[in-house]
Amino acid sequence: MLCTLMLSAPHPFSLILFGASGHLASIKLYPALYILALKKRLPENFAIVGYSRSDFDDTSFRKLVTDSVKEHMEAVNDKILEEFVSHFFYQQGTYDDLAAFQAMEKRIKELEKKWKDPVRLAYYSVPPGVYSSISEHLCESGIHSDALPVRTIVEKPVGGDLKSFESIKKKLLDSIGEENIYLLDHYLGKEAVRNVYYLRHANPILERLFKNTLISHVEITAAESSGLEGRAGYFDHTGTFRDMFQSHLLMIASLLTMRLIETDESFVHARADALKQFFLPPSSDLSDVALQAQYARGQVNGETVEGYLDEDDVSSDSRTNTYAALKLRSRTSRWDGVGFYLRSGKRMKLKETRISVAFQEPRKIGEGTTPNRLDVILQGEAGMRFHLQTKLGGEEPKFRPLLLSDPLVCFGDCLPEHGTLLLEAIHGKKQWFLTFEEVQLAWRLMDPIQTYFDQKSTPLPEYKAGSMGPDEADAWIGRDGISWFA
Ligand SMILES: NC(=O)c1ccc[n+]([C@@H]2O[C@H](COP(=O)([O-])OP(=O)(O)OC[C@H]3O[C@@H](n4cnc5c(N)ncnc54)[C@H](OP(=O)(O)O)[C@@H]3O)[C@@H](O)[C@H]2O)c1
Repeated sequence: MLCTLMLSAPHPFSLILFGASGHLASIKLYPALYILALKKRLPENFAIVGYSRSDFDDTSFRKLVTDSVKEHMEAVNDKILEEFVSHFFYQQGTYDDLAAFQAMEKRIKELEKKWKDPVRLAYYSVPPGVYSSISEHLCESGIHSDALPVRTIVEKPVGGDLKSFESIKKKLLDSIGEENIYLLDHYLGKEAVRNVYYLRHANPILERLFKNTLISHVEITAAESSGLEGRAGYFDHTGTFRDMFQSHLLMIASLLTMRLIETDESFVHARADALKQFFLPPSSDLSDVALQAQYARGQVNGETVEGYLDEDDVSSDSRTNTYAALKLRSRTSRWDGVGFYLRSGKRMKLKETRISVAFQEPRKIGEGTTPNRLDVILQGEAGMRFHLQTKLGGEEPKFRPLLLSDPLVCFGDCLPEHGTLLLEAIHGKKQWFLTFEEVQLAWRLMDPIQTYFDQKSTPLPEYKAGSMGPDEADAWIGRDGISWFA
């Protein structure tokens, strides 16, 4: 069953936020929760308990939350914000401090005392290295129990490769249990990304056009114009390839190619089946399959622009990739032979996440004919553009481009992606969370390339900030007789 999106939190809930002092909590989670409060989607009784090693108490933690919301929201209703932060509490401790977990358990129990059927959740907004310790201590302290299981939200990427994923998975399953784990890829909370699947349901003509007899290739680009913006702690050991491909870009490709389900079929199984069909086309030279680059220190439009190695907290010999490109194929009969070209980079000319479905060359009946193309822009100036051609006036058949274009503005019940996913977790709805099977399939696919990237001898071409990536990436796709769409 597909879930509806007009959700409000049904029960009182307590949410423990591990890593409450962190970047993700400040820029995404506190603002998203505030919007839920603003839109009256939270129940009367709820508690958010921040947990981290940093030195806060309830008062200073509430100030941190207040400041984060004010910094990341354009307009704030002070009265609602004040009431909202009164639901926040803080527990200081290391992630292996049983006494601190026990103190938190007492506090949560006290808060929940008068609530009817409370739901408990935990959000792991911390590096994966501390997941297992947190999970064990949630059990040992009695916060997580059979009687009151903790719905545990784990941020992507789960692990840094297949091996570390398997180890994290085992520890999470041993302590928390699969049914209570919500693997979060925030792209799956975006309306525009969900629409990639629904578009085909709602537009049978698209579903008929999406097949290998008509399509030449598919490009999926996730271009960021910004640099690290203070995220070096997370990014410098992750890199663009791990950050973007293993989850976000593969999920977009899966939503585009998955079968449309009937009401009694499992959406999540169909999505995993689509992912299972992707493979790396054979190549005699791995550098043909994968590219990586650091963006260059250089000049854009006459202004001095910092390069990756100039970013705060990045070591001067870092080899972390900030750009990567990859080609995939699908084994499904519908997509057999169609190349999927995925790329992502930082400090690029555009800020845009886009799927471009390129149709085959038309028959040459006159001057100016170019292949049709459908662009679905998921981030940036979100919208859809259908590239057609129309005849110019005159006796000879000459053509000019005709662009059908419409913005993909979210109409209706629009929430920030973390807000949507948090509400769904509070409801126990898992359709838009990843499964362990999907994460495992993704790591299996990406691992050989990640291993190649991690070798010191792998080339790391540079590209200029404000460009669309390294020249090598253009030459690479050019060998297949195509080029990136601008
Ligand atoms: N930031 C993003 O945009 C983003 C995007 C995708 C996924 N993620 C994932 O989301 C999670 C949180 O990201 P984040 O950017 O908020 O990370 P972060 O700021 O580096 O870390 C969050 C908090 O975890 C604690 N922490 C950091 N390093 C630690 C360590 N080695 N051992 C124990 N605790 C440590 C710190 O709190 P205390 O020192 O106070 O304990 C820190 O405030 C990570 O799993 C990351 O992979 C983040």
